[in-house]
Amino acid sequence: MTSFTADMMPTLSSTPLYFVHISDTHIGPTRSFELYGCNSYNNAKRIVETLNALPTQPDFVIHTGDIVAHPDEAAYRLAESVFSALHVPIYYVVGNHDASKDIHAFLTIGEKADYCIDTDVLSYSFERKGIRFIVLDARGMDEIDPHGILEAHQFDFLRTGLSRDEASVVIVLHFPPLKLDSLWLDTDMLLLNGEKLHEELVPFRERVRGVFYGHVHRGIQVLRDGILYSSVASTGRQFFAWPNDGKMQADLHHPPCFNFVTLTGGKTIVKEHSI
Ligand SMILES: [Fe+2]
Repeated sequence: MTSFTADMMPTLSSTPLYFVHISDTHIGPTRSFELYGCNSYNNAKRIVETLNALPTQPDFVIHTGDIVAHPDEAAYRLAESVFSALHVPIYYVVGNHDASKDIHAFLTIGEKADYCIDTDVLSYSFERKGIRFIVLDARGMDEIDPHGILEAHQFDFLRTGLSRDEASVVIVLHFPPLKLDSLWLDTDMLLLNGEKLHEELVPFRERVRGVFYGHVHRGIQVLRDGILYSSVASTGRQFFAWPNDGKMQADLHHPPCFNFVTLTGGKTIVKEHSI
């Protein structure tokens, strides 16, 4: 007969946390809208159907931005019609193709604590199974597009989140904070103050379980000073990211993808799946 002592009993924090990372759905105002030869609506719908049928359901889905191709009500309403069919909550990040105000107005987001009541900012945190997720708004003025930038108030919010009691923290934003060894990505697409973000995270690296981002339409993993930075390929067309690529080029062969992420026992496990 097996007996359990108290310290052998499974606790909530010892239960693996699963989430699915998707990004860059670029949904247009109509169901027939195409970008780089991909039907954005159909691809997003296929992703949702695939996620709903996974053998292990995630605790939630994180969408790291560029939900729509251009921020307008019709596109966000179409996005809501697709993602509200998910069997689990979804959390959105604002991308350079998005408008925070529209995301607040038209999309349903999982339970969260907003950074502020200003709907021009989409920044919040939430806690699951002892892990705090901090979602940052790095969309800057149109003049810096397609770069992103974190304003001082977002660093304040980050520090507040990092100083809480939870053992583990995950950071989520749209833009890559660190260089990716690709000329065009490193010239055009980075978070302008990504090095500062990294400096802020290093003292907490024992607790930071990952920094998840989108924007680059390619799954790219960077490990620096013990901190994992992980992007996901888009649900539509992917981009090349070879070291000497000087400009954006679409990869016509890499399929739409999502990442299934496991956080357990101090490990972060990222599995890419395609549809
Ligand atoms: Fe983007």
